[in-house]
Amino acid sequence: MAEYDYDVLVIGAGPGGYVAAIRAAQLGLKTACAEGRETLGGTCLNVGCIPSKAMLHASEYFDAAANGAMAKMGIKVTPELDLDTMHAQRRDAVKGLTGGIEFLFKKNKIDWIKGYASFQDAHTVKVGDKSVTAKNVVIATGSTVTPLPGIEIDNDKGVVVDSTGALELKAVPKKMVVIGGGVIGLELGSVWRRLGADVTVVEFLDQLLPGMDGEVRKESGKIFKKQGMVLKLSTKVTGAAVAGDKATVTVEPAAGGAAETLEADVVLVSIGRRANTEGLGLDKIGLELNQRGQIETDHDFATKVDGVWAIGDVIPGPMLAHKAEDEGIAVAENIAGLTGIVNHDVIPGVVYTAPEFAGVGLTEEQAKERGAIKVGKFPMLANSRAKTNHEPDGFVKIIADAETDRVLGVWCIATVAGTMIAQAAQAMEFGATSEDIAYTCHAHPTHSEAIKEAAMAVTGKPIHV
Ligand code: FAD
Ligand code: NAI
Repeated sequence: MAEYDYDVLVIGAGPGGYVAAIRAAQLGLKTACAEGRETLGGTCLNVGCIPSKAMLHASEYFDAAANGAMAKMGIKVTPELDLDTMHAQRRDAVKGLTGGIEFLFKKNKIDWIKGYASFQDAHTVKVGDKSVTAKNVVIATGSTVTPLPGIEIDNDKGVVVDSTGALELKAVPKKMVVIGGGVIGLELGSVWRRLGADVTVVEFLDQLLPGMDGEVRKESGKIFKKQGMVLKLSTKVTGAAVAGDKATVTVEPAAGGAAETLEADVVLVSIGRRANTEGLGLDKIGLELNQRGQIETDHDFATKVDGVWAIGDVIPGPMLAHKAEDEGIAVAENIAGLTGIVNHDVIPGVVYTAPEFAGVGLTEEQAKERGAIKVGKFPMLANSRAKTNHEPDGFVKIIADAETDRVLGVWCIATVAGTMIAQAAQAMEFGATSEDIAYTCHAHPTHSEAIKEAAMAVTGKPIHV
């Protein structure tokens, strides 16, 4: 009889966990995945990437019809919002994709053990009332919303909500206050602004989108303001009170000063997410968390405990689905005795607003700290396709090493920046120089030509400006 029930037990079926399970099974390992949610796919498929993109896509159409973008192209319509149908198509997208993962589990003979898992020892995990043993256990439990002390989130009531509640609002709020000008606040704030809400974003720092290139952050502020969002930067929230179906949010300057109150029908708390480790019984296996409450691993995604591995949002690094997926593949390959590697220097990040904000590699500020650099920039206004499509906002910026010309970072603001950034990531993976990109033939007319021209600008020779 085998020593363990499984070669691999993955805890959590988000993009990290389900991908790890599939790759482990593909590599011939007997694999199970414990997931407590009703459906597979984790945060990303159920309440994150997918439903938010469904609402962003639909609301973009509404906005284009309502605010003149379609009329500019000779299409005159007065849109009528059917929010129930918009929500239904979001739920359909989620159902289709989560069901797809269930199909892939069956196809790859992965056992889905339903319930929340807790370690008994390093190779024994309790899931509900079942005890499961495995030679290797991969922790892929993801993350949950960081609460704001003193502000209670109640998604059912729908007045003070987190991202999950903000995806499900039953009516368009007249006034929405977003606490936190990061990715969630700007994406979901954009959804409801497009559908008619007055949106105020309260951000503690002096710019939106922490972690992105400074110039991109500055430009994002201008663009969101132009779109009608009210931005309260360098401002902190000190409290929120709910009375009936309204809320009052108290804010004051981050540096201290007079308090102000903001009235809202809906308040979205989006101040970050934190690793999900509660109830895992990590104390039983002697696994300690770092200061940020995350599980530390080595380069192979092995924890300090033999046979226990960790990937995705629960470990350090950007909390992104594609980072979790790549780590899922790598950890399975490492468990199988292969060499699974993730290059954490080249993980693209995208904010899926209109325009999109995307970047990969170093910001200009980080690159300057490391040594001499050259920077090439090209405005989307001078890109023929963007101009033709009436999409003038944005630019591409390429940061290269001054001596070797190797590309260190690429930043894009453009309607399809999320798609454009893939070629930049690939170029960087291949160790490209800006000259390599400048001499790569790009199809015309495409937004991506702006990447070629920004690369040409690194050495001062773009054609169209
Ligand atoms: P998760 O997806 O969080 O999955 C973890 C799973 O583990 C969950 O299903 C949970 O139920 C389960 N679990 C937890 N504890 C246990 C336990 N003890 N036993 C059994 N199961 C357990 N990222 C992007 O890259 N692009 C985007 O566009 C994007 N949009 C987002 C929009 C929103 C609104 C949010 C909230 C997040 C978004 N993200 C996006 C982030 C992305 O969702 C996460 O980075 C990604 O889901 C992390 O994957 P994971 O597998 O590590 O964890
Ligand atoms: P975030 O870290 O992106 O932004 C949080 C913002 O809140 C920061 O700008 C921070 O300065 C601000 N803040 C913190 N405390 C505050 C306070 N008291 N008052 C005012 N502002 C305050 O976190 P967010 O938006 O909650 O998203 C969580 C994670 O989910 C992100 O880190 C991201 O990785 C992931 N995500 C990714 C998406 C994508 O890839 N498109 C989409 C949505 C989420």
